[in-house]
Amino acid sequence: MRLSSSPLAAAALLQHSLASTVSRTGQTVELDGIPYYLPASPITTLHHDNFHSTLSKTNTLTRLTVITANGSSYSGSDLSTTIASYKATDDVFSEGFLETIYVQYIGFKPRGNEWKASSYNNAPNGTAAVVHKQVDNSSAIPPGPYFLSSTGAVYEAWRLYSDFAGAFTEPLLANGDGTYSVLPAGVPGQSLAVAVPSRLYFTKTAEKPLAGVRLGIKDIYDVAGVKTSNGNRAWYHLYPAAEEHATPVKRLIEAGAVIVGKMKTSQFANGESATADWVDYHSPFNPRGDGYQDPSSSSSGPGAGTASYSWLDLTLGSDTGGSIRGPSEVQGIYGNRPTHGLVTLENTMPLAPELDTSGFLTKDPVLWMEAAKALYGKNITISRKYPKKIYNYDLPTNVTEPGDQLFVDFVRRVSSFLGAEVESFDIEEAWNSSRPNGTNVSVDDLLNITYPILIAQEQTRLVREPFYEDYAAAHDGRRPFVDPAPLIRWAFGDSYPNNTVDIANANRTVFKDWWSSNVLVAENATCSDSLLFYVGSQASVSYRNQYNGEPGVPYGFSISRVSPFWGGPDFVVPLGSAQYFSNITLHNEVLPVTVDIMAASGCDGMIFGLVQDLVKAGIVKPSVAGYDDTNGGEILFKRDY
Ligand SMILES: *[C@@H]1O[C@H](CO)[C@@H](O)[C@H](O)[C@H]1NC(C)=O
Ligand SMILES: *[C@@H]1O[C@H](CO)[C@@H](O)[C@H](O)[C@H]1NC(C)=O
Ligand SMILES: *[C@@H]1O[C@H](CO)[C@@H](O)[C@H](O)[C@H]1NC(C)=O
Ligand SMILES: *[C@@H]1O[C@H](CO)[C@@H](O)[C@H](O)[C@H]1NC(C)=O
Ligand SMILES: *[C@@H]1O[C@H](CO)[C@@H](O)[C@H](O)[C@H]1NC(C)=O
Ligand SMILES: *[C@@H]1O[C@H](CO)[C@@H](O)[C@H](O)[C@H]1NC(C)=O
Ligand SMILES: *[C@@H]1O[C@H](CO)[C@@H](O)[C@H](O)[C@H]1NC(C)=O
Ligand SMILES: *[C@@H]1O[C@H](CO)[C@@H](O)[C@H](O)[C@H]1NC(C)=O
Ligand SMILES: *[C@@H]1O[C@H](CO)[C@@H](O)[C@H](O)[C@H]1NC(C)=O
Ligand SMILES: *[C@@H]1O[C@H](CO)[C@@H](O)[C@H](O)[C@H]1NC(C)=O
Ligand SMILES: *[C@@H]1O[C@H](CO)[C@@H](O)[C@H](O)[C@H]1NC(C)=O
Ligand SMILES: *[C@@H]1O[C@H](CO)[C@@H](O)[C@H](O)[C@H]1NC(C)=O
Repeated sequence: MRLSSSPLAAAALLQHSLASTVSRTGQTVELDGIPYYLPASPITTLHHDNFHSTLSKTNTLTRLTVITANGSSYSGSDLSTTIASYKATDDVFSEGFLETIYVQYIGFKPRGNEWKASSYNNAPNGTAAVVHKQVDNSSAIPPGPYFLSSTGAVYEAWRLYSDFAGAFTEPLLANGDGTYSVLPAGVPGQSLAVAVPSRLYFTKTAEKPLAGVRLGIKDIYDVAGVKTSNGNRAWYHLYPAAEEHATPVKRLIEAGAVIVGKMKTSQFANGESATADWVDYHSPFNPRGDGYQDPSSSSSGPGAGTASYSWLDLTLGSDTGGSIRGPSEVQGIYGNRPTHGLVTLENTMPLAPELDTSGFLTKDPVLWMEAAKALYGKNITISRKYPKKIYNYDLPTNVTEPGDQLFVDFVRRVSSFLGAEVESFDIEEAWNSSRPNGTNVSVDDLLNITYPILIAQEQTRLVREPFYEDYAAAHDGRRPFVDPAPLIRWAFGDSYPNNTVDIANANRTVFKDWWSSNVLVAENATCSDSLLFYVGSQASVSYRNQYNGEPGVPYGFSISRVSPFWGGPDFVVPLGSAQYFSNITLHNEVLPVTVDIMAASGCDGMIFGLVQDLVKAGIVKPSVAGYDDTNGGEILFKRDY
């Protein structure tokens, strides 16, 4: 601002400065080299002489560990057990927090012979004060690590991690009033910082099955208090912050999930290839293999983040034509395209509402199911009776290529586990033998342009038109910048009469009715008469430093289009990894191998049940963050040599 000597301006300046407000946005500290964020407001204040002697000495932040005793005594060996369990379950806690210890006895009177720092010869080094106190339920503090101010204010400890994969658009923090703000903190490393709370603060309950689960949200879902970008800069800056949560976001918050940030999407959730198509924002980094493989499109932020960060539990993506499945496949994680309509999508950017679905990308198959129960509510029933028929769409049956063995073993083990028969399946052949009367075309001809017509004409009507209008009104008739991929798709839609979307839906319905009465058929006892498996990914390369030419219109029909057209579930399950030769590292590296599983429409709960049983039987395993989806390991570009 330019300073002026005019009395009027000075008065205005004065008035302005009197009206100004200063608000606390928290603070950052480092403990043993690890950065932490402390929210602006303390959760409570602790007054106790033992602490005060320490506090007055330090007159700075003191580290505090809160412990809940289960009985009326708490011994030194109890403390060792507690510390070991804190370290095993939480990445925020460290022994550095043992400077002061607060043992709270909920409803019990401490016996008086309890552990004290001064009298216990195995005391953790540096512990200066221990307080034992009987508290009632309402004044108990969730256990875990905290920071204590010189006035006794207790601040939560949120660990700051670097988003080195570029998976987030904005890290978020709950304001405590139902809205969220952008995290006001940073870390070294040329990336955003994301803050996560101690896992020890949370207890999962029937009402809060996702308590403490760290959740990332694809930036097409509104989160109240913050802006949505839809992967477009003009959009982000044009519109104000959202006032309401998208329905899926609301349900997950109600279930206790902790939103740690918004995550990248390709623009308007259209297919874009890394790197050239991503003009407005940079495509996130797939951590697997050489680290320079395309993370796939649309829910690529959730996919790359889930595969990169052990500290990120769950991400919410969306799938219209493959946007959850693609990133899950190439990053080797669990991902579900649910049956269409299991959850409604208010305050969510549409691509084509008749195809849009909301689902998860995660490393943890058990959490995957718990999250689905919270998101879909009564629309999903977990069941554990399984079909006796498996259709093998294109899984190898003998071993010639890297990764073949994983598929062969998977089919063998699942069919034996279920006592199921395996039948090879070919769509064209099935269509030829049972296609509906009066449909005298191949499935390829029926559906070749169906998908691009649906997404282009629906998104034009629902997103492009209002956006262009609002932007023009705000910017003197100008048009906003849009990436090449959505523009090419929208232009394709414009080249057809705008009611072609009705024909596309009619074609889609012909296919849907045929598929659900001839291929994956609903059945009472096992929900679906069969399961269908197809290859999700098999260590195939798609280098992000490769120029692919202009983006194109997504014509054509393939197995991955079946679930969008038919509306049933299509789940990605990681099986392991296989070798390839990287022309980046000039070295053999590994990339994920995944299978897609389909069952009759509405049988999502049966597939979830099956995956739980396959986990128990050791046939599938959790995915691991890092270089390799099975064995983890340092991501290549950041490995210390
Ligand atoms: C108290 O009991 C709960 C549940 O049994 C257990 O998880 C927790 O570790 C116990 N706490 C201590 C300090 O022993
Ligand atoms: C405390 O520090 C000393 C010296 O560094 C070490 O020998 C001892 O094992 C430590 N004690 C504990 C309980 O960590
Ligand atoms: C604390 O209160 C909650 C809810 O009021 C109750 O469910 C819980 O059992 C209480 N815990 C103790 C230790 O009294
Ligand atoms: C279940 O699905 C219906 C139909 O799509 C939807 O209206 C309803 O909101 C869903 N229920 C839940 C709990 O999400
Ligand atoms: C090996 O697999 C290929 C393709 O899956 C198949 O065509 C071929 O018949 C198989 N060979 C044997 C010996 O099973
Ligand atoms: C399906 O039918 C078409 C047209 O009759 C034929 O060209 C094609 O070979 C058939 N495909 C299969 C797999 O039977
Ligand atoms: C097609 O029509 C024929 C003769 O009317 C009938 O026998 C057949 O069952 C019909 N097929 C289908 C798939 O409806
Ligand atoms: C699909 O449609 C496009 C555009 O009309 C055309 O170029 C392409 O040949 C079609 N493919 C098939 C398999 O019909
Ligand atoms: C609908 O199906 C017909 C074949 O029956 C095909 O020629 C046409 O391109 C399809 N149109 C759309 C929009 O799917
Ligand atoms: C389709 O185009 C016509 C003529 O331009 C227009 O009147 C109508 O509103 C459009 N319909 C939709 C659904 O956009
Ligand atoms: C499922 O059971 C209901 C009632 O028990 C019956 O009416 C229906 O026909 C059955 N459906 C199938 C596909 O077997
Ligand atoms: C890597 O290999 C792909 C083909 O697999 C090729 O298109 C690309 O140009 C190569 N990239 C480099 C950096 O050599």
